[in-house]
Amino acid sequence: MKMKKLITLAASSVLVLSMLAACGDDDSSASSDVVSLRLAHNQPETHPVHTSLKAFAEELDGKIDVEVFPNGTLGQEREVIELVQTGALDMAKVSASALESFNSDFAIFSLPYAFESQEHYYNVMDNSEVIKEIFENSAEYGFLPIGWYDAGQRSIYTVDKKVESPADMAGLKIRVQESQTSIAMIEAMGGSPTPMSYGEVYTGLQQGLLDGAENNETALTSGKHGEVAKAYTYTEHQYSPDILIVSTKVWDKLTSDQQDALKAAAKTTSESHKAIWKEAVADSVKEAEALGVKFYTIDKSAFIKAASTLHETFTKKGEKEAKYFEDFQSLK
Ligand code: GCU
Repeated sequence: MKMKKLITLAASSVLVLSMLAACGDDDSSASSDVVSLRLAHNQPETHPVHTSLKAFAEELDGKIDVEVFPNGTLGQEREVIELVQTGALDMAKVSASALESFNSDFAIFSLPYAFESQEHYYNVMDNSEVIKEIFENSAEYGFLPIGWYDAGQRSIYTVDKKVESPADMAGLKIRVQESQTSIAMIEAMGGSPTPMSYGEVYTGLQQGLLDGAENNETALTSGKHGEVAKAYTYTEHQYSPDILIVSTKVWDKLTSDQQDALKAAAKTTSESHKAIWKEAVADSVKEAEALGVKFYTIDKSAFIKAASTLHETFTKKGEKEAKYFEDFQSLK
């Protein structure tokens, strides 16, 4: 991270922490004064999740002052999660896959074909007891997830080649998120996984370090990958949600009213995000087509079969994993 960025971050952290300290001085709980929280994420202002995070901030208007920092200016996902853990950053929106390295419970979200449909995915995210458990368990790692945003389905895209089966993936260097399960997934799907942060993918594709990547359609447009990658195949292998996390160091200093307000704003905007997301994906497809990207619908069964070994490996890891997987499947 650049020195200037660090200094800005350190200075604002001192400010926020001293405000929080002032709140908590006279009482074991905090006062209800308006606190300021900084929320970082890696997408540009044109991305639908930025719209929903701004809506989240607006919901809290007058109660909690949330400042949203887009574009990865405070760091890539791994860095911002680390900052949240130390309390140097208050909040972040990151992919569930990025959280796997910090709390292995999140591995389940990177399992390919863990969800059968969008309905199944929404039902799990909104109603599963296991989701609550995973969120609550995260506190011991220094962050508390308080909500989720739809980030669609992830599919494979390459600079020039449609992929219909694992055989078509042979020798292709495919960027994945920094998640062990996503790495294993691309191996199972026949390709060569290259983990790297989202901010590096465009250059990786442009310079030929990568043959492709896997993501939802907005990566082609708001992430500009469609300028370089022209073949998007609907492998639809992952629904990895975006997760809103709060530093436990910050959370513990908030009053229960403030905590409730944050959770309520996350819930409201998670709901309103669903329609925003749907429209953004449709717009992205049109925009990407105008850039010359071709979209291919395929019979996914060869990929589904190849990836199913990962489900077995996961459920055999232990009782907890078996229970989590079972819970997800029961909500189809
Ligand atoms: C999605 C997700 C981001 C993540 C990115 C990635 O766009 O919403 O949070 O960084 O995927 O592939 O890294």
